[in-house]
Amino acid sequence: MTKASPPQQLDQMISGYWISQAIYAAAKFNIADHLIDGPKSIGQLAEATSTNADALYRLLRALASVGIFAEGEPRHFALTPLAEPLQSDVPGSKRALALMAGDEQFRTWAEIEYSIQTGKTAFDKAFGKPIFEYLSENPDKARIFDAAMVGIHGRESDIVLSAYDFSGVGVLADIGGGNGSQISQVLNRNSDLKGILFDLPHVIERAKNSIESAGLLDRCELVGGSFFESVPEGADIYLMRHIIHDWDDEKSLTILRNCRQAMSANTKLLIVESVIPPGNDPFGGKFLDLVMLLIPGGKERTAEEYRALLDQAGFELTQVIPTTSEVSIIEAVKR
Ligand SMILES: C[S@@+](CC[C@H](N)C(=O)[O-])C[C@H]1O[C@@H](n2cnc3c(N)ncnc32)[C@H](O)[C@@H]1O
Repeated sequence: MTKASPPQQLDQMISGYWISQAIYAAAKFNIADHLIDGPKSIGQLAEATSTNADALYRLLRALASVGIFAEGEPRHFALTPLAEPLQSDVPGSKRALALMAGDEQFRTWAEIEYSIQTGKTAFDKAFGKPIFEYLSENPDKARIFDAAMVGIHGRESDIVLSAYDFSGVGVLADIGGGNGSQISQVLNRNSDLKGILFDLPHVIERAKNSIESAGLLDRCELVGGSFFESVPEGADIYLMRHIIHDWDDEKSLTILRNCRQAMSANTKLLIVESVIPPGNDPFGGKFLDLVMLLIPGGKERTAEEYRALLDQAGFELTQVIPTTSEVSIIEAVKR
């Protein structure tokens, strides 16, 4: 196959959202779950999902052309490796991520012009309020958000565990730990470790089920609150994964100072984020940075920006530990 010319490559980039919105539709109508037991005809799928058979056929034919589902017998579709993660209940499911990306995120990206002109969040323009306020008022969307975080960042839990030694640590606090998937994995691997999962009260309320089904309720304290007010005391390590990138410098400083307040001597702070490298090379964090600009109003930062931010909050950055993925672990101690 000849390599696409620059204008052809640009065509593909310009229309990139056609694919992501088609994936959204397949996720919304739960097509992958209907194919768990094997291929189905378009008639069966349309009936099961209350959709228009011809339109659904065109959707699945288009997706099959990029490897998501496959048409075997005419007008019958089956799962493929790229379609399997769209099932709801498989480990590493991407369904919630596809739902969030195709709904709130897509509607926010439509307002990108506003963010670039003003530096303000397009999400607030599109939805009339900040993202975390919106989620606290929309439990169904909040549930999707929590699961989407696992879909997008879940595989980082293992990566963090391989890159950082938690053995010998007494208590780990996961600040803004969402539904507890990261802390559950760390506790499962370190049987002497105790945990504190801290997040907004409505998130903690829902997280209780997942911590309970992981059999970790006796080793993991669940604390609801806001990190803009305070965070729980008593941990040896304070972990924040994809928290600081959600906020501008001023709000990040408040969160960091509240952590510092709760931390005693010899405790450590671990920030897990995409640390932006210099240069033009592809790096997912550069686009995640735009998501931060558009949605919560935060940013991805360089190592020097983290060092300066931590310094202002009374911390000393001790090391930036690279991992096998794009995220790094930024370790800091109280100055
Ligand atoms: C981008 S998600 C990251 C979740 C998780 N740490 C992960 O890596 O998957 C940000 C988290 O911050 C939480 N959060 C937002 N505002 C908060 C606040 N004021 N206090 C505590 N947690 C908050 C959200 O509920 C959400 O779970």
